[in-house]
Amino acid sequence: MNAQSSVQPKLRVRGATKVYSTGSGDLLAIDRCSLDVAPGEIVSIVGPSGCGKTTLLWSMSGLHGLTAGEVLLDGKPVKGPNPEISMVFQEANLLPWRNLDANINFPFEIKGTKPDRVWIDELLQMVGLEGFGARFPRELSGGMRQRAALVRALSFKPSVLLMDEPFGALDSFTREEMNRLVEQIWLDRPTTIVLITHSIEEAIFMSDRVVVMSARPGRVANIYPVPFPRPRSLDIMATKEVFDLTNAIKREIVGDQKSRFSTPSAPVFQAAK
Ligand SMILES: Nc1ncnc2c1ncn2[C@@H]1O[C@H](COP(=O)(O)OP(=O)(O)O)[C@@H](O)[C@H]1O
Ligand SMILES: [Mg+2]
Repeated sequence: MNAQSSVQPKLRVRGATKVYSTGSGDLLAIDRCSLDVAPGEIVSIVGPSGCGKTTLLWSMSGLHGLTAGEVLLDGKPVKGPNPEISMVFQEANLLPWRNLDANINFPFEIKGTKPDRVWIDELLQMVGLEGFGARFPRELSGGMRQRAALVRALSFKPSVLLMDEPFGALDSFTREEMNRLVEQIWLDRPTTIVLITHSIEEAIFMSDRVVVMSARPGRVANIYPVPFPRPRSLDIMATKEVFDLTNAIKREIVGDQKSRFSTPSAPVFQAAK
């Protein structure tokens, strides 16, 4: 599925611009970013550190307002927290004094709504955490904590899942396992996913399209389709297509940083005389 189809985009970002007021003046974080995400599509966002990826994602969630531009969910403006949209962060953010079950129940307690235990048990089983409900976060590995955060995010049955470097703190094996797990869950229950990652390999493995942002102020510099069928196996990562795509994206990001930070006229070092 791609955004060129005639289907109405699930998520539509139009001219998203964000200026932060800081002690040392205004800071233009993102500048007129536009992006359509089709229903059931997985889109990754990559770009240099500080280019505004998190700013863009938070604006999609409705948790942060924009200075200009808009975000539409199913054609309707997103102006605040929305039950259709869930988020997963780099840290699992589990409450240390609550066990896994109580952590998953927590958002429902806050909202005063009843969790769908059948659905949650199904999710726990899908991520391999069945039987761990009585464990406390300190008794779980980093990967297990992120799986719990994923269950918590999906427990509301959101139609959009926004993830901000969710597996960035995990070792590469656990990260690959998480990537396959998210794909499996997605195949079972298609959700529209926007994933920020600093791993180009992860972006390619996971996504239907990879969005490359420019250095701050963040703009949508390029969008690369990733045309591999699903379920994907790690074997695709060893293909020439992926190698070329990875290099093209890497060159674009590094080139962008170079053009921003290098001063070609200044000598890098003075040769000894
Ligand atoms: N709440 C804030 N107040 C002021 N500046 C911010 C705030 N959040 C982010 N920034 C700045 O905006 C820019 C983009 O940040 P961010 O969206 O976190 O980038 P990324 O996620 O790509 O690393 C950075 O220069 C960052 O310092
Ligand atoms: Mg960030």
